[in-house]
Parts: sequence; structure tokens; C-alpha cells
Amino acid sequence: MPTPLFFQLESMSAEALAAEAAAGLRASPAAVSPKFFYDAFGSRLFDAITELDEYYPTRVEAGIFAADAQAIADAALSASGPAPMLVDLGAGNCAKAARLFPVLAPRRYVAVDISVDYLRDALAALQRAWPQMELAGVGQDFASHLALPAALAAPPGTGTLVFYPGSSIGNFAPAEALRLLRQMHALAAQAGQGGKGGLLIGADLVKDVHVLERAYDDALGVTAAFDLNLLRRLNVLLGADFDLRQWRHVARFDTQHSRIEMHLRAREALTVRWPGGERRFAAGEGIHTENSYKWQPGAFEALLREAGYTQVRRFTDARGWFGVFVAAV
Ligand code: AVJ
Repeated sequence: MPTPLFFQLESMSAEALAAEAAAGLRASPAAVSPKFFYDAFGSRLFDAITELDEYYPTRVEAGIFAADAQAIADAALSASGPAPMLVDLGAGNCAKAARLFPVLAPRRYVAVDISVDYLRDALAALQRAWPQMELAGVGQDFASHLALPAALAAPPGTGTLVFYPGSSIGNFAPAEALRLLRQMHALAAQAGQGGKGGLLIGADLVKDVHVLERAYDDALGVTAAFDLNLLRRLNVLLGADFDLRQWRHVARFDTQHSRIEMHLRAREALTVRWPGGERRFAAGEGIHTENSYKWQPGAFEALLREAGYTQVRRFTDARGWFGVFVAAV
């Protein structure tokens, strides 16, 4: 039985992360990247979000994968060729990809996440369940730079299938999403089986505003806790003195940009201090913490073509709430 290989590529130091967060707090308007949500506690809060009645994306996407498993696998394998190298971006606990193993039968599975440490337990368990498969974990902030270690170049005759589920592409503005999709295209098109390769990606779609806003501002307040946890994280990372009780979570759909915006708003005028800096907030002033873009299905297909993909196929649920797209390089 092979053992999983692990690589940690250029991880950001705590100092660099703190400097990035401080620059965001000083900016006008203040904005902090959603990547700061995902400390250990934030990741658990996100898992809880995916179980909320109001948060439909995870459930609806899983329903599409379950209902159309064979058709999705056929389309993906016709792009990549059989027994592909499956590259899972933002793999986390690897559960979504593992559910596709029976239909995709990848020869190698490469799980990529911001920290390789999240991947160790999941890959060890997967290796026991799939003793023949080559497994690798890569720690990398692929949103800033996507490239696998040379040791993981697709073996001759093996096509690459990039897997990016969950509508994480929604965190990126269209121009950034295009840049990222092109990087995925370059990765999938690396010298494999006669240049074969594909992309399997989930994207959340435009729908009724109330459905969207409730998904990001649930009755239990789990999304509010997820948003506010960012301030806790900044207190630890920066040594800041945010008092979470002075802030509230706001989620609004901006029709113009077709995105949910999440903000933390100061309930009263206040000053936040940290070693080397401070920022005054007027009552009602906010910190922009996340954008989650919602796509029209045709516009997302056009974006994929603009990024260089061909043979774009779309799978949706009956209400057209979520899209799973398969494309060839
Ligand atoms: C992980 C980016 C797909 O935008 O729906 C969920 C993050 N934020 N609730 C999303 C999130 C608040 C999620 N993504």
C-alpha cells in the first residue's frame, strides 16, 4: 500500500498575515479577506453553516452530484481520459472528492488546501479505504498562486481533472475568477494524455434575493458568529482589542455586482487599537469581510470559454439554484 506524500509550499508567516490584516483595517472602507475566517474554530463554524436549513448551496450541490453522478463522471472523464489525476482545490476533509472516487476511479488524488496539516488525517483514512490509489496532500494558498510540486506532474498517459466544488469561485470578482480559471486550465492542460484535461466546478446561481440573504444571515446566528469570529482571529493575530459586542453582522445582496456582501458594522463610535496601529470607526461604519458572487448560468459558461475551456456542460437542480459545470481544456 503506498503512503500519502505531503508538501507544504510557500506558506505565509504569521507576521505577513498580520501585516495584510492591518493594512485592510486601515483602508477606507476597511476590508479584510475572507481567508481570515478559517482558523480552526472558523472552519468548524463553516461546517455548521453547511448544515443550516437556510444555507442551501452545499445541500443542493450534493443533490446534483448524487442525481447526475454518472453523467457528470462521463463528461469529466471524456475531458480528462480514464483514470485521471484528480486535483481537489480547497479539499478540507476530502469528503466531496471521495464520494466521486467510485465513478471517477482516479489513479492519483492530489488534495490542495491552505494548510497541509488539515489534510493529514483525511488522507490517511482515504489510503486505508483506497489502498491502490496514489494520494498526495499539498499545502498552498492556491488563490494567489496555483502550481503543483514537480514531483506531482501527471504521469505519461494520465490526464488531469481539476475539482473546485462548493462555489468557492464565488469569493472572486469576475476578473479574478477569470485569472484563477486560466491557472486551473494551465494545470489541467499540462502534458498528460495527449493534452487531455478537464475542470469540474460548482458555482452558485442568481435567485430570489430573500433566499440569498437568509442563506447568509440565518435565524440561529451561525453565520453572524462565523463573521464575528474574524474579529476574534484579528485579536489573536494582531493583538487587537476588538470587543465583539460592539459589532453586528450584516449580509446584503448587491444586485448591481450580483454578489452577497458581508460586513461587520460598528454599533457605536469606537476605536480599535493594536501594536503599531489603530482605527476609528464611526457608528454604522463597517468592515467588508466577504463577497460571494452569484452567477447567471450562461454568464458562467461564457467565463469558462473565455478562460480557454471547450465542451462546457452544465448540471443543475430542478429550481436552477446551483450549477455544476464540466469543461475540457
Ligand atoms: C465557502 C465561499 C463558498 O460564499 O457561500 C458561507 C462562504 N460565507 N456563509 C459562500 C460563506 C458565509 C461560502 N464559500
